[in-house]
Amino acid sequence: MNNLVCKLNSVSVVAITLFVISCQQSPRASGPFENQIDSLLALMTLEEKVGQLTLFTSDNDVTGPTIRENYKDDIKAGRVGAIFNAFGAAYTRKLQEIAVKETRLGIPLLFGYDVIHGHRTIFPMPLAEASSWDLESIEKSARIAADEASAEGLHWTFAPMCDISRDPRWGRIVEGAGEDVYLGSKIAAARVKGFQGNGVGELNSVIACVKHFAAYGAAQAGRDYHTTDMSDRVLREVYLPPYKAAIDAGAETVMTSFNEIDGVPATGNKYLMTDILRKEWNFDGFVVTDYTSIMEMIAHGVAEDSSAAAALAIEAGIDMDMQAGFFNDALVNLVKAGKVKEDLINEAARRILKTKFELGLFDDPYRYSNPEREKETVMKAEYLEASRDVARKSIVLLKNDKQLLPLSKTIKRLAVIGPLANARKEMIGSWSGAGDWKKAITLLEGIKAGVSPETQVLYAKGCNIDDDSTMYFKEAIQIAKQADAILLAVGEGAWMSGEAASRASLDLPGVQQQLVEEIQKIGKPVVLVLMNGRPLTINWIDKTIPAILETWFLGTQAGHAITDVIFGNHNPSGKLPVTFPRSVGQIPIFYSMKNTGRPLDLKNKYTSKYLDESNDPLYPFGFGLSYTTFEYGDISLSGKEITAKDKLVVSCKVTNTGKHAGDEVVQLYVRDKVGSVTRPVMELKGFQKLSFQPGESKNVEFTITDADLSFYRKDMSIGSEPGLFEVFIGGNSRDVKKAEFELK
Ligand code: NOJ
Repeated sequence: MNNLVCKLNSVSVVAITLFVISCQQSPRASGPFENQIDSLLALMTLEEKVGQLTLFTSDNDVTGPTIRENYKDDIKAGRVGAIFNAFGAAYTRKLQEIAVKETRLGIPLLFGYDVIHGHRTIFPMPLAEASSWDLESIEKSARIAADEASAEGLHWTFAPMCDISRDPRWGRIVEGAGEDVYLGSKIAAARVKGFQGNGVGELNSVIACVKHFAAYGAAQAGRDYHTTDMSDRVLREVYLPPYKAAIDAGAETVMTSFNEIDGVPATGNKYLMTDILRKEWNFDGFVVTDYTSIMEMIAHGVAEDSSAAAALAIEAGIDMDMQAGFFNDALVNLVKAGKVKEDLINEAARRILKTKFELGLFDDPYRYSNPEREKETVMKAEYLEASRDVARKSIVLLKNDKQLLPLSKTIKRLAVIGPLANARKEMIGSWSGAGDWKKAITLLEGIKAGVSPETQVLYAKGCNIDDDSTMYFKEAIQIAKQADAILLAVGEGAWMSGEAASRASLDLPGVQQQLVEEIQKIGKPVVLVLMNGRPLTINWIDKTIPAILETWFLGTQAGHAITDVIFGNHNPSGKLPVTFPRSVGQIPIFYSMKNTGRPLDLKNKYTSKYLDESNDPLYPFGFGLSYTTFEYGDISLSGKEITAKDKLVVSCKVTNTGKHAGDEVVQLYVRDKVGSVTRPVMELKGFQKLSFQPGESKNVEFTITDADLSFYRKDMSIGSEPGLFEVFIGGNSRDVKKAEFELK
């Protein structure tokens, strides 16, 4: 506190001195910092309190449609509590000085940013990282991101995105953990732990922001910002658990979503923000809107003007307005006119100030803006190695006929072809914040660094990612003819997924499919390296090309990580966190579907199916091959009957039957055969990622408790129901062993 007092102008010094005295005299109120916050609130004008409820973007970066040119004047006038899109020790310090030295009370700013998958060292996109099913590595990448971001003056990341998505047309599927409730919840918690580390206020931690609350990933037709409409049961059973898991892991803040649910935009949705978040889940951090989403309630058609929108938001339980400026414009007048209770403003300001106290900003407002730490921390060798490690764990081997992969490092001539083969900018994917794409390693560079000195590496781009020109085909065909094997890197540009990047087609864009066909015709061994932000419809490729690697967008070390897998320095172990459809018409397609009253029977016309497409996905959830093979034995159960108080031990012998050491993600699924409401055909309830030497067997055990069998029953109470259950264990959601037990 004394540091701060010294730096303040004379008015602030008086004010804060009073505040310090009052802190010393009054007994501590219920929570930490409550006394200090009470004293500070007592000194603040209504305008200053509303200022704390306002978040504006700086001009350092652009992550939305508007910029407020005069945001620095707003800071000076005490109309801003937090700034986003400003990073770097020097720059954040400069802005902080305005708040501390030039405002009446010198209350420090909070700095937020989209640190989504790394800050300077960029890690795989979240969907890619989810393919690792490696919670420790995922937590570690968030930890490193927090270390780098906090050294640059950041206090707050707008992550993790916990939106379940079952629609690959939606570009933001790449920012989440895929389609599954259980996996999504585990990953959400791991990422919060990584960002927040040992606790808020630690110099190398940032506070997490759980987004986008709620059900943003269920946008109709996969079109971004579109309407979400679902039953309360689906909302609670499928979409809410990952947000809840992140909050239970200690996330300090929550961000609203752009969509409406049941006719009410999330930002004005009291049911979500107060009834569920605060009352049911006891969330005591603060809630920020998404970018201008208070303003967007006018376009949604639930508010006539800025006053009505601001009132809706504050009454729903929103604490901070991102970028709309509507709280600033309207709340003071609304309170003065008796239309909004001042208590609501006090509560919101209290929550935001509490976070600032927890972060230690009242002790030293510049403690995170540290140029020395910034220099020592960002992109250090250890962090690049960690990025490469999780990147190779995130690669999914989709096909490997006749064990074409791994390739020999001493291969004579290797052609690296495709619009993504040397596309540096694409490697770090979308939402890569402060990441510098110029420092990313391309596939071509990785291959050149990884082959033997005798190998000749040939390169041709073949075509662009997204246009109609075939003018580079000839060159690509020529070099392909000279090669002993071909690596063909195709997929999407990084800009084709992320925010405002929905697609109606999931085919390879531009003329890439044609390029693949031309190269395949030559008859040389082809390894197709996919780089993309969503599942793609690659049926022809699956039928025709012998080896396929799904590499998503792997970050700064992408090229090295893919090379590690191609030459067998790393045996792939990634598993898909999302189903790959055969065609767009199958969407939504996910493994935990309901059975329906007329489950598929190919011999019976009147069953649930398509005339022109199979019901099966191209690749099921949980799928991914290895350079070795795993065999699953039959399932053993510790009993055939259990009661709700018992634990059931389910086990299965898994053996590495191939010639390579490798990791396998052993997955446990459960089905409740008869319930008071219908239940999914299977649900993931556990997984273990284990290492196996060639020939090694392990008895893999899972414990099922009543909680794993519980669900929202007909009356919406949570619990299990007696009856028959099926339990499945396997290396993906399709190829499983099965057993049955009864819950008495
Ligand atoms: C809008 C995005 O929806 C959100 O995820 C992001 O955190 C904000 N913009 C801030 O950049």
